[in-house]
Amino acid sequence: MVGTAKGRGFGVDVGGSGIKGCVVDVEAGALEGERLRIPTPEGAEPDAIADVVADIVSSFDWHGPVGVTLPCVVKGGMALTAANVHKSWIGTDAAELFAKRLGRATDEIIVVNDADAAGLAEMRFGAGRSHHKGVVVVLTFGTGIGSSVFVDGELVPNTEFGHLEVDGHNAEKRAAASIKEDEDLSWAEWAKRVTRYLQAVETVMWPDLIIAGGGVSKKAEKWLPLLEVKTPVLAAGLRNDAGIVGAGCMASQLLVG
Ligand code: BGC
Repeated sequence: MVGTAKGRGFGVDVGGSGIKGCVVDVEAGALEGERLRIPTPEGAEPDAIADVVADIVSSFDWHGPVGVTLPCVVKGGMALTAANVHKSWIGTDAAELFAKRLGRATDEIIVVNDADAAGLAEMRFGAGRSHHKGVVVVLTFGTGIGSSVFVDGELVPNTEFGHLEVDGHNAEKRAAASIKEDEDLSWAEWAKRVTRYLQAVETVMWPDLIIAGGGVSKKAEKWLPLLEVKTPVLAAGLRNDAGIVGAGCMASQLLVG
């Protein structure tokens, strides 16, 4: 059937401001052509998001399994938290919701935390590809701050380091990329906040490498050199596409066997 060949997957990355999807070449770790992005519906409720995910998938010639990321802790297809999406996600069986909307069986859908998907892609194809020994922390700076942790290349899922308390604040409310925009911070001002945040991460973890991702990794030269931390920090290689690529890779695994 068209669009189900091994070596390919479909990934959809659901974020606080946009929902993006594309067919993924899982050998190359790259998008196959142009991704489609649709703004996240106001309120970010489960049904409205599922409609957009279905619109995105159906606009491609794709009939195989689909990986979907959510900015939520996700276990066994269930969303268990909802920081930057509607609270009604909490307790939603997201795998079942997407399977119904996409007209697929639940075992053709995989739902994962967005930062875990992005981290997986970075470790396989991006800045972490030659760092499969030791502890790597991948952080995504976007609407919130997402985290994923890899120990000798293996994912420890659902870490939520974006919500560490730093100087009395929820870290992502001070140091997410969206806050830089909302408060009109200069790169230097924002880098100070990111430094405080990374220092807090370093007090509870001693990673060997930190990979900084999200849209702001495109402008890494403006802020990475300003960080004052012990751990080496690399800019993500896949930039904003990491979530789609990671989700597509996970979906392609559903074809195996
Ligand atoms: C959520 C995480 C998510 C991150 C990035 C945080 O607010 O709690 O689950 O990975 O935002 O979207």
